[in-house]
Amino acid sequence: MRKHIVAGNWKMNNGLIQTKTLITELKQQKKTSDAEVMIAPAFTNLWPAFEETRQFPIEVVAQNMHFAEDGAYTGEISAGMLKSIGIQSVILGHSERRAYFNETDEALAKKINTALEHDMRVIFCFGEELSDRKSGHHESVVERQIKNALFHLEASAFKNIVLAYEPVWAIGTGETATPEQAQDMHAFIRKTLSDKYGSDTSNSVSILYGGSVKPNNAKEIFSKPDVDGGLIGGASLKASDFFAIVNAF
Ligand code: PGA
Repeated sequence: MRKHIVAGNWKMNNGLIQTKTLITELKQQKKTSDAEVMIAPAFTNLWPAFEETRQFPIEVVAQNMHFAEDGAYTGEISAGMLKSIGIQSVILGHSERRAYFNETDEALAKKINTALEHDMRVIFCFGEELSDRKSGHHESVVERQIKNALFHLEASAFKNIVLAYEPVWAIGTGETATPEQAQDMHAFIRKTLSDKYGSDTSNSVSILYGGSVKPNNAKEIFSKPDVDGGLIGGASLKASDFFAIVNAF
């Protein structure tokens, strides 16, 4: 059975006090679903978040990391640094990283390799722009992103990979993909994986949907057979909204 996962991407929000407050509120929520819960605070708050959630089924994950082991990369954070404070998972390839920090498929492939070498779990994000969808190229764009970043891997690597399909036009816009659009793309992603690695692998990988998931639309999106969870931005900053989404399963 594939894991259900709901991950909150806090992006560049919340200082130390707000981080502690939000975590206190998250710990007060009642979890009624089987979904694994993750939160991704900013780098500066990973350690306090990790400490505050030690006894709780909330995994603290990083939003990014560098591909090098260490060295002269001012301002960057390595996999080893994350592991040294207990962080086991990292989001890679978010569309904001691609758009504002010029992260290429090639750089992402290197980051994925480094994370896997460190036995970390990767939440790999990808998705088409509005113009791709309008011109009917959404599937080929997504296929290329997946192939470029992942298809050098062995099938066994996929036990540490979670995919997150996030159409760029739906992120932070309030405009979500319809449940049917999400399902169609998730089925296409699974077929792309299956063609290369076989159905055992493709059926075992969790594929999350991200892009304006809210308490009022999560249930319908999560009801689709190939949607295994969500990557949540805005709605993850409010404990009750986030857990309403977690409990939508
Ligand atoms: P959003 O962000 O839920 O605010 O649209 C999703 C994401 O960027 O992961």
